[in-house]
Amino acid sequence: MSSHEYTPSSKFGKWFNDRLPLLTLANHLTDYPTPKNLNYWWTFGGILTFCLITQIITGLVLAMHYIAHADLAFGSVEHIMRDVNYGWLIRYVHANGASMFFLAVYIHIFRALYYGSYKSPREIIWIIGMLIYFLMMATAFLGYVLPWGQMSFWGATVITNLFSAIPLVGESITHWLWGGYSVDNPTLTRFFSLHYLFPFLILGLVILHIWALHVPGNNNPIGIDIKKPSNDTVPFHPYIVIKDIFALLIFLIIFAFFVFFSPNILGHSDNYIEANPLVTPAHIVPEWYLLPFYAILRSIPDKLLGVIAMFAAIFVLVILPWLDTSKVRSALFRPIYKQFYWFLVADVLILGYMGAMPAEGIYLLIARVATAYYFIHFLIILPILGRKERTLNVPLSITEPVLGGMPNPSMAKAKSDKVKINSLG
Ligand code: HEM
Repeated sequence: MSSHEYTPSSKFGKWFNDRLPLLTLANHLTDYPTPKNLNYWWTFGGILTFCLITQIITGLVLAMHYIAHADLAFGSVEHIMRDVNYGWLIRYVHANGASMFFLAVYIHIFRALYYGSYKSPREIIWIIGMLIYFLMMATAFLGYVLPWGQMSFWGATVITNLFSAIPLVGESITHWLWGGYSVDNPTLTRFFSLHYLFPFLILGLVILHIWALHVPGNNNPIGIDIKKPSNDTVPFHPYIVIKDIFALLIFLIIFAFFVFFSPNILGHSDNYIEANPLVTPAHIVPEWYLLPFYAILRSIPDKLLGVIAMFAAIFVLVILPWLDTSKVRSALFRPIYKQFYWFLVADVLILGYMGAMPAEGIYLLIARVATAYYFIHFLIILPILGRKERTLNVPLSITEPVLGGMPNPSMAKAKSDKVKINSLG
């Protein structure tokens, strides 16, 4: 809605809005026409926004008590846990909040993969999302180093060392990242500085993400273009707002379960031992949400190629809108894509499991097959499938398969079950 279409009712509101059209913006957001068939997988964008704000608020309070120094960091975290009022709660919400944030983002990404939300005209929403995801991984990695436990120190050592695989300049880059000749105090202080900065970059990207979303509007479970506003849409407020709040409450119950009953189950016990450069832990493993990438990294025998494969695994997602050649968005109308989608889900889960196992024997073999399949899915299967697959008939509107010219809504199911196979392929 453009600014001249909306006028605030109060005199002050009008005066203010003429100078800074914030009320027009708020009105645009509440009136935003949303497809009326969105399912609960569409509530995760709101849940993610909540997660980001929670991480920022709890992080700000932690930073008031945390000391970014190699000699004091570990003790300052214990001080937060024992002495600071509700410090344990703030820390556990922040630590488990990171896991919940990733859980939500994985659901959000796999929702987009299933319903083809990354396809034209939503490529920029998708690419901004990928930037957010990349920054989230960087932020989580940096944050994990801050308590200066054994896993913090050795995780930082393993990951920063990856840069030394770059030919010629690798060693210099690694020393530059460390601020010295090993992971030490200068590394910790710069990691803290960046860990503080990145969430605000993510916040800026989220604003662009939602702005870009509001240009074409939401995709929807049947993946068709719809007219906005129309019979196929409902205003964002109150319909989506109330649904998002309900989903958030369910999400909070799961979140609270981890915080209050199992706050350390997702962490590693070695991180309750202070960092010791002279003692290497038996297995150096990242947090669960980074495991699939860790498995890809270790499945390649050469260090440089392993690093390239790990970054390539993210890059194929960035260019996904151009790899998937099918014009039909939703997997509901792509019977073969639907199968491959579930293979991919299984493949990523297997990679995650292998990332937690030692990189040897059968584990390594399975990780290699799963890595190969990951790339085959994106680089070979999707481009070919898009051209060859026989898709099902896509309805013309959201309302059509439900009421579709039939007076009796109970006939709706019968009609949508009768979708005929067409010959697009
Ligand atoms: C801080 C992290 C993120 C936040 C706060 C966020 C927020 C949102 C919101 C509020 C929506 C609209 C509601 C919905 O569809 O659920 C949305 C849509 C979308 N997001 Fe995200 N997002 C985040 C990360 C990501 C990531 C990592 C990706 C994937 C690369 C992504 C891809 C998309 C896509 C493709 C849509 C459009 C869905 C549609 O048109 O229906 N987002 N996001």
